[in-house]
Amino acid sequence: MTVPALSFQGVDKIFTPRGRSPVQALSGFDLDIARGEFIVFLGPSGCGKSTLLYMVAGLEETSGGTILEEGRPIDGPSSERGLIFQDASLFPWLTIADNVGFGLSLRGVAPQTRKEATERLLVSVGLGGMGDKRPDELSGGMRQRAACARALAMRPRVLMMDEPFAALDVQTRNKMQDFLLDLWRESGASIILVTHSIDEAIALADRVVVFTARPGRVKTIVPIEMERPRPSRDPRYHRYRDMFTDLLADEVDRAFAEQEGRAR
Ligand SMILES: Nc1ncnc2c1ncn2[C@@H]1O[C@H](COP(=O)(O)OP(=O)(O)OP(=O)(O)O)[C@@H](O)[C@H]1O
Ligand SMILES: [Mg+2]
Repeated sequence: MTVPALSFQGVDKIFTPRGRSPVQALSGFDLDIARGEFIVFLGPSGCGKSTLLYMVAGLEETSGGTILEEGRPIDGPSSERGLIFQDASLFPWLTIADNVGFGLSLRGVAPQTRKEATERLLVSVGLGGMGDKRPDELSGGMRQRAACARALAMRPRVLMMDEPFAALDVQTRNKMQDFLLDLWRESGASIILVTHSIDEAIALADRVVVFTARPGRVKTIVPIEMERPRPSRDPRYHRYRDMFTDLLADEVDRAFAEQEGRAR
């Protein structure tokens, strides 16, 4: 059997904030992700989706269980595993080109090679000739594309995106989804994308992982058996939509009930 790109085995996470009671974010989370697979995480607020990404990125430790990348335990950050946040994590004081080339310069890539690689990447994300601008001169969608270029510059095997398009308008969001599918096909990377949007999950995923309310674990895994692009007129699309709406409704109700209980 081939080794999964990522393997979560009984992963637990308990936060113990100083002076407050412990919070169990995840409990016995199990999942194998294949190389080049596009996975979407869908689940109620607070079920540990972001926490899982931080753990894969090596920024947060597990409290129990293991996470293996290509069969090896994760023991810290690596350029093989890129993470993109909701609000484009660019350095505001650097130009777009310097942001995209940042990781390459840390790796000691020579300036001329770096410049060429950076320009190629900017063209591939539709930002050719924009390298001299600073993040605050770009629109939200452009900033997210620059963040994608920066993550891809390191040629990661795993690319993680935490609600990357949540702040964008619907049209820009649809364009960004098409753009992401193109990048994904070219890069061969495995992708984990977190979203609250059922439509986004259906448009993008090979498999959608639906979480339970906190403590998060896998409630169910739904493979999207439709060729891409996936028009929302398709009757199969409607069936997936109904299925995810029902699956989430139960868990969101549970999450709310628990939050109200805690607030009292
Ligand atoms: N550093 C921390 N200290 C204490 N508790 C934390 C910390 N980080 C996360 N948590 C708690 O762990 C749980 C999971 O948080 P997480 O951010 O992973 O959820 P999420 O699924 O990403 O939610 P959302 O959909 O709202 O982004 C939440 O109850 C959160 O309050
Ligand atoms: Mg989150």
